[in-house]
Amino acid sequence: MSLVIENVEKIYKIVSTQTVIHALNGIDISLPTGKTLGIVGESGCGKSTLARLVTGLEAPNKGSITWNGSSVHDVNKGSFSTKKSVVQLVFQDPYSSLNPRQRIGDAITEIVSVHKLVAKNLIQTRTSELLTLVGLADDLKNRYPHQLSGGQRQRVSIARALAAEPNLLVLDEPVSALDVSVRAEVMNLLIDLREKLGLTYIFISHDLAMIRYISDLVAVMYLGKIVEFGNWEQVINNPKHPYTQALIRAMPDHTIIGNPESLAKTLQGEVPDPVNLPTGCAFHLRCVKATPACASTPQTLFEITPQHRVACMEAKI
Ligand SMILES: Nc1ncnc2c1ncn2[C@@H]1O[C@H](COP(=O)(O)OP(=O)(O)OP(=O)(O)O)[C@@H](O)[C@H]1O
Ligand SMILES: [Mg+2]
Repeated sequence: MSLVIENVEKIYKIVSTQTVIHALNGIDISLPTGKTLGIVGESGCGKSTLARLVTGLEAPNKGSITWNGSSVHDVNKGSFSTKKSVVQLVFQDPYSSLNPRQRIGDAITEIVSVHKLVAKNLIQTRTSELLTLVGLADDLKNRYPHQLSGGQRQRVSIARALAAEPNLLVLDEPVSALDVSVRAEVMNLLIDLREKLGLTYIFISHDLAMIRYISDLVAVMYLGKIVEFGNWEQVINNPKHPYTQALIRAMPDHTIIGNPESLAKTLQGEVPDPVNLPTGCAFHLRCVKATPACASTPQTLFEITPQHRVACMEAKI
């Protein structure tokens, strides 16, 4: 059982300016059930686009995304009638994903009833169970989102995602908007839920320290491509791609709560425009190890050790 992403491409056409944005440029991932894949990369590299595709909210222009052999787009689209959902998404900002005029209890009850997973007379019981599962007191049911702390709101978003009984949770920067003091609590909740419910996670963050804390596998993204992939020990302790190496230099030491230093200190220049992708390796314009060949030779992932793949010709040498 696994999630399989094969050669996925996504473009956005902006009609007014007649531009084409290459958000994802050939993504291949195989994620076994029960594992957590951490996805890291700078702003605009395509992390949220991939999240939307995996949850079936948008369809790829090319390639396929399947869960146990069925297209996630099809299975999630039909999820309201088929009751359970395969994939659910948790967003960065719980405040904007909750209706400010809806009480917390109703926000959860709504999802439980839509998915028809319990009998009508048990909906309230299930709502209470979900609140307990995410570590919230039952009397919070009557509050509105603005009456909760950021951490409590994110717990409500997680409860809403779990109400559909998904197999896979896609967590798009789930703790980035939270106060530093509650990040570790929510991270630990996610780890507990993963064990208790046997969930598979895709955990997205621009912060490698978070990724290290929760992931089994790590994918490093740059301009819509994966440039390094492997077990977290290999990727974080023995990074091979110059981009991963720069991300790691920007990581604070041994903490999951600190803010990483600015990447600008470890990387030259700006991320290129996804409208006009560079030729050759997309990273070559910012790479300290770039050779003239890097400007003309596109890089694809190759295996350097089992379970560790890198898209850099310099890493081969
Ligand atoms: N609906 C859309 N229409 C047009 N362009 C889009 C759309 N969604 C994303 N993009 C573009 O696709 C690229 C990837 O965006 P995406 O939001 O996936 O990046 P990200 O890695 O999640 O960034 P961040 O870390 O800032 O959240 C960006 O250039 C973005 O401007
Ligand atoms: Mg994003």
